[in-house]
Amino acid sequence: MPSEQAVLDAHYMARAIELARRGLYTTHPNPRVGCVIVRDGQVVGEGWHVRAGEPHAEVHALRQAGELARGATAYVTLEPCSHHGRTPPCADALVSAGLARVVAAMQDPNPEVAGRGLKRLADVGIEVLSGVLEAESRALNPGFLKRMEHGVPFVRVKLAMSLDGRTAMASGESQWITGPAARSAVQRLRARSSVVLTGADSVLADGARMTVRAEQLGLDAETTTLALSRPPLRVLIDGRLRVPLDAPFFQAGPALVVTCAEGADVSVYQQHGHELLVVAAVDGHVDLAHLLQLLAARGTSEILVEAGPTLAGAFARQGLVDEYQLFVAAQFLGSSARPLLDWPLARMAEAPRLKIIEMRAVGDDWRVIAIPAPTASV
Ligand SMILES: NC(=O)c1ccc[n+]([C@@H]2O[C@H](COP(=O)([O-])OP(=O)(O)OC[C@H]3O[C@@H](n4cnc5c(N)ncnc54)[C@H](OP(=O)(O)O)[C@@H]3O)[C@@H](O)[C@H]2O)c1
Repeated sequence: MPSEQAVLDAHYMARAIELARRGLYTTHPNPRVGCVIVRDGQVVGEGWHVRAGEPHAEVHALRQAGELARGATAYVTLEPCSHHGRTPPCADALVSAGLARVVAAMQDPNPEVAGRGLKRLADVGIEVLSGVLEAESRALNPGFLKRMEHGVPFVRVKLAMSLDGRTAMASGESQWITGPAARSAVQRLRARSSVVLTGADSVLADGARMTVRAEQLGLDAETTTLALSRPPLRVLIDGRLRVPLDAPFFQAGPALVVTCAEGADVSVYQQHGHELLVVAAVDGHVDLAHLLQLLAARGTSEILVEAGPTLAGAFARQGLVDEYQLFVAAQFLGSSARPLLDWPLARMAEAPRLKIIEMRAVGDDWRVIAIPAPTASV
């Protein structure tokens, strides 16, 4: 039986996590963080981090609590920061406000914090507890944590497929396999991502722009405004620079083009407001693993790969995918249609295992969320 205190701690931390979720679309490159301040069984302050450069969750909650913070308990979904970034350290703010107890869901893996925030609090006699609803808190920030712990972003691959696992007709035609509710869900995936990444053939075949569209987000007006205030960076993998600059993709705003083409003219893209990044080739294509490191160094936390079977297959084959979101439509596209992933496998023993973590109806379609299984079993 958990103690009464443990039950209360979990209750208030759940509320802090709920608040943190409000930053889903905006905190990039920062983590989503929520904070609740409780005194004598009453919530006296609540806050969440909205966007980088603006106050952290603790500061909002402390402002609301005012003098009532003295002797209270603060619940924070991530260890309070201890360093001067664009804002002063939150650990210092909690100390000044006279908190008696600070409960964190998890330590901050950011090397600039990494336990120092909690230590700062404990050093002045504040009671400190870490690890309350840690798994739920980790789920708020898969990208930030992957970047801090492994130096690469969290890679989510989205694909729309038919019940027979096909993603486009042989001609390349693929619009639309799934219905409006699924497309709306994909819009929200785009909006929460730091980067939306696609390939040259998808852009050429579909005229895709990879933008976030307000009317398709399916969010309330306030959240829509927030989401649109921080659009994801659109990244195009174009190994041989085949996509013309008058393509709809380039007309839709600034983009980052990644190529391994020799003699690429960076200035032409610059003149049109885009950035061209030339990286080394591996087997004649853009080195995806290296690209992920470069994007992480620019603060990219979550990447949504919205490409066809060739590029999505390349990510999958190289073990670069953290999560698959497969939208499944109740139709067959037939045996000449394109597969989910270009990934030829000869033997069952080579077939990668996945773990399905969620499966639910989205309009007339189904969404399957799967992650690579930790160890392949045959
Ligand atoms: N059902 C869906 O969810 C969905 C989503 C998007 C697109 N589609 C459909 O998929 C089709 C296009 O799919 P696709 O995969 O052929 O095109 P793609 O997604 O555009 O991928 C091709 C791009 O990936 C690069 N590439 C290929 N192999 C690579 C590797 N090993 N490493 C790094 N980069 C690599 C290519 O560059 P190089 O120049 O180096 O070859 C090219 O720029 C279209 O018919 C589209 O309608 C379906």
